[in-house]
Amino acid sequence: MTEREQELIRLAEEEVEKNKEVVEGDPYRLRYHLMPPVGLLNDPNGFIQWNGTYHLFYQWMPFKTGHGAKFWGHYSSEDLMNWKHEPIALAPSEWFEKNGCYSGSAVEHDGKMVLFYTGNVKDADGNRETYQCMAVSEDGVTFDKKGPVVELPEGYTAHFRDPKVWKKGADWYMVVGAQSEDLTGKVALLKSSDLKEWQHLGAIAGSGMNGLGEFGYMWECPDLFELDGVDVLVASPQGLEADGMKYQNVYQAGYFVGELDYESGVFEHGDFIELDRGFEFYAPQTTLDEQGRRLMVGWMGVPEQDEDKHPTIAHKWVHALTLPRELKWVDGKLLQVPVEELTLMRKDQLVEQSDLQLSDDGLGLVIGGSKAFEMSLFLEKAVATFEMALSDTVQLTFDASESVFSLRRKSFVTGEWETRSCSLQALTELRAYVDTSSIEVFLNGGEEVFTARIFPDGTAHERITLSGVGKIGELRVWELEG
Ligand code: FRU
Repeated sequence: MTEREQELIRLAEEEVEKNKEVVEGDPYRLRYHLMPPVGLLNDPNGFIQWNGTYHLFYQWMPFKTGHGAKFWGHYSSEDLMNWKHEPIALAPSEWFEKNGCYSGSAVEHDGKMVLFYTGNVKDADGNRETYQCMAVSEDGVTFDKKGPVVELPEGYTAHFRDPKVWKKGADWYMVVGAQSEDLTGKVALLKSSDLKEWQHLGAIAGSGMNGLGEFGYMWECPDLFELDGVDVLVASPQGLEADGMKYQNVYQAGYFVGELDYESGVFEHGDFIELDRGFEFYAPQTTLDEQGRRLMVGWMGVPEQDEDKHPTIAHKWVHALTLPRELKWVDGKLLQVPVEELTLMRKDQLVEQSDLQLSDDGLGLVIGGSKAFEMSLFLEKAVATFEMALSDTVQLTFDASESVFSLRRKSFVTGEWETRSCSLQALTELRAYVDTSSIEVFLNGGEEVFTARIFPDGTAHERITLSGVGKIGELRVWELEG
């Protein structure tokens, strides 16, 4: 480790120590989500199960609650539920990363954990350079930086970042988020036989490609994987205009389903579909675990979307990661299901009811000031309208005549109600994970997901109110312990 790196790590650790009380004293500090120990967290990085243990890194700015020269923070877990905060994995100490060890991924090779990330460099005039770098670990805790392995290929601007690497047959492949010289967003594909020498095969998707039309000026954080026989490309495009219920956030995160021809580098795909219909979700990353599950974690935040107005900033931290979700491809649909291990967090059962008739009057369920709970609801297919209110901060509504499901929350900026919606034919199942200041809602076995930060006045959730026309078959609520 260079002296510069040691010094940066020391300064970051000092920052954590200095602010511990303030950060942990925040009533909005989450109970069972991964957060920065101080400062700002953004993208999940390097998600991998390595020698049985899950590792999840994150983009981290320890010195302020804004963006800047990022570090890689590091969590590890045996069960995706109990997480241990590990020592800092990467600090932006070298010439090729001096303005940030930006997002990237992890693979296993010859028993070692190998990280690929973007070295972000800016000169005094703000001109950017980008290097895709490698770092190797034998113990999963300390990382030996090998420096740049990919220089900027021709045809792109310096907005070329976020390498995601995987193995197919005997070869390695890398997708990189990019902007081509005509200032449109792309995903570049590269290939290597040894992880060190990389050949650029070309752009496989992007604005103006594969019948997509205009589709943004930059695509960030791509991920490509096979899921039950189809190839899925995940990306976070920037520059999409809002379109009805779609693309309501400042930036989007979604996927295309298709087939990648690894020989020709051609990816034929269908429409772009948003992964999450809520307010805060961006730059997700997946990994294939040892059980063969495709797991995904996202950033519970969106760049430049009122980031500086989050109430937690008063306590010197901002943002968190989502819960891990398992992805499934079932009957031509991508489903996102909270990983099974999360049921281990269930403590006391607060509510258990069956055959509940919904009415306009509203049915109040007292959940006794719980800060963290899971709710599972099965509805009769015929439910015509459904409305659930939580702590005067969140409302979930479904209207069968319009086929629309909505999540409404009180804005943490204006205090006014704001809405995100998606079309939904019928509401049959609703699972919600509520934490002190977040909610993740999974509909119909993961057909649609809504993620949002919420900031209830009292910070504890006292009461759920249910109303509508129809019948709830089963309703259960558990207190959760992270
Ligand atoms: C996405 C992103 C990435 C970049 C990282 C920097 O949120 O902008 O493209 O690598 O964050 O923190």
